[in-house]
Amino acid sequence: MPDSSSIIGPEIGAARGNEDIMSAVERGRFNTRGVVAGPDQVDMNKVNLLHPELWRSQKCFEYFQWLRDNSPIHYTEDSPEGPFWSITRFDDIVAVDKDHERFSSDSKYGGITVVDLNEGFKLPMFIAMDRPEHTKYRKAVQPVLDSESLKNFEHLIRKRTIETLDSLPIHEPFDWVDKVSVELTTMMLATLFDFPQEERRKLSRWSDVATGKYNKEICPGGEAQWQAELTECLMKFMTLWQERGNRDEPGHDLLSALAHNAATKNMTPQELLGNLILLIVGGNDSTRNTMTGSVYAWNKYPKEFEKVKADRSLVPNMAAEAIRWQTSLAYMRRTAVEDVEMHGKTIRKGDKVLMWYVSGNRDERAIERPNDFWIGRPNVRRHLSFGFGIHRCVGNRLAEMQMRILWEEILNRFNFIEVLEEPERMPNSFVRGYKSLNVILHPL
Ligand code: HEM
Repeated sequence: MPDSSSIIGPEIGAARGNEDIMSAVERGRFNTRGVVAGPDQVDMNKVNLLHPELWRSQKCFEYFQWLRDNSPIHYTEDSPEGPFWSITRFDDIVAVDKDHERFSSDSKYGGITVVDLNEGFKLPMFIAMDRPEHTKYRKAVQPVLDSESLKNFEHLIRKRTIETLDSLPIHEPFDWVDKVSVELTTMMLATLFDFPQEERRKLSRWSDVATGKYNKEICPGGEAQWQAELTECLMKFMTLWQERGNRDEPGHDLLSALAHNAATKNMTPQELLGNLILLIVGGNDSTRNTMTGSVYAWNKYPKEFEKVKADRSLVPNMAAEAIRWQTSLAYMRRTAVEDVEMHGKTIRKGDKVLMWYVSGNRDERAIERPNDFWIGRPNVRRHLSFGFGIHRCVGNRLAEMQMRILWEEILNRFNFIEVLEEPERMPNSFVRGYKSLNVILHPL
């Protein structure tokens, strides 16, 4: 059997500890491209599931199929990020995700990505906290993002969606990622924070900076630039924070919610920055890539989309199916805080555990015809894209609403959005995303 690393190129590199996930991926970007081997051609005990080529080529799906069938609780002893366990079946992922007593998200064990959180300039975020600390932040923001409160945003989000779609070039190729997905998610974030719309691109810039400290394309000035730009973000939000906190009547936005909640109004600047960045990053990449993925899916499964064109009441189903099919966040990591037995294997205290949502969402044991985009799918909202348990995505209703509005407005205008070539994908094992998607519009 050939050596796995020679078939899929050298491993990502020696990134460990103080590196973030993007930097690790980016440094792998220049590795050998070419034919990526299938799981039967390599030694699966040695294969590096984080390898960017597996993600760029989408070969990762074959690897997860193999793991679900042959080794559902799988140990990778040696990877650039150290050893880790992979959980690949739907039911096992749900079990680990719900077992937050034994599987921690806390940054003191390393947090929620395979690369341990930076030890230096710490950004405390409630996604990387356990109970009881996690509860106080989540409770403060949840009311702004529940279905009832979202009605306050629906009108504005629709207005901005309409303006964006109406400004697109007709019969002329353009990049859907830049002109629509990035634009709409950024506008939505500005709406959520009641942040000045004219400065909205700063939000996506700060989101990129926060996750791209070692990415030379994003932060050529390295850590110094990273700190400087995040400090600018903090200063801007501190001003807004004070202004919102001084208002007698809190607004409907996220900043007002945090500034008026007894448990969060006295946050330190570092806590404020960390949790703001979480909301910015959380609301940015994942929704953006689902918007792009849904247009790509239209081209792959045109017959399915004929159904939604004929019956608009299927739009919410289509949105939920796009969220499952895309699975914008491929995995979340936990750390075992005690020894745990699963399928006859022992996960040791301190081990990293990756719950591969992207695999669970394609598990035929739990989901019928999981590889197909199927708008009439029974229980279409029963998927893993938002996680499960106490950290289940707090923005899930918002993401569904944005997708629904976008598609209602798309169908009001276009007969088809034609994808001109295969998309350029991010070579990233955490965020499953698109760099660009060239399309041409065919109006009604
Ligand atoms: C948490 C996915 C949209 C904010 C999560 C988690 C996942 C996820 C998988 C679970 C993390 C864990 O278990 O450790 C997605 C996807 C989205 C999306 C696929 C879009 C399709 C949003 C939006 C926001 C948001 C629009 C809004 C601001 C958050 C926050 C958390 C979170 C704050 C942390 C929740 C906690 O720790 O209690 N998201 N998300 N997300 N998401 Fe989302």
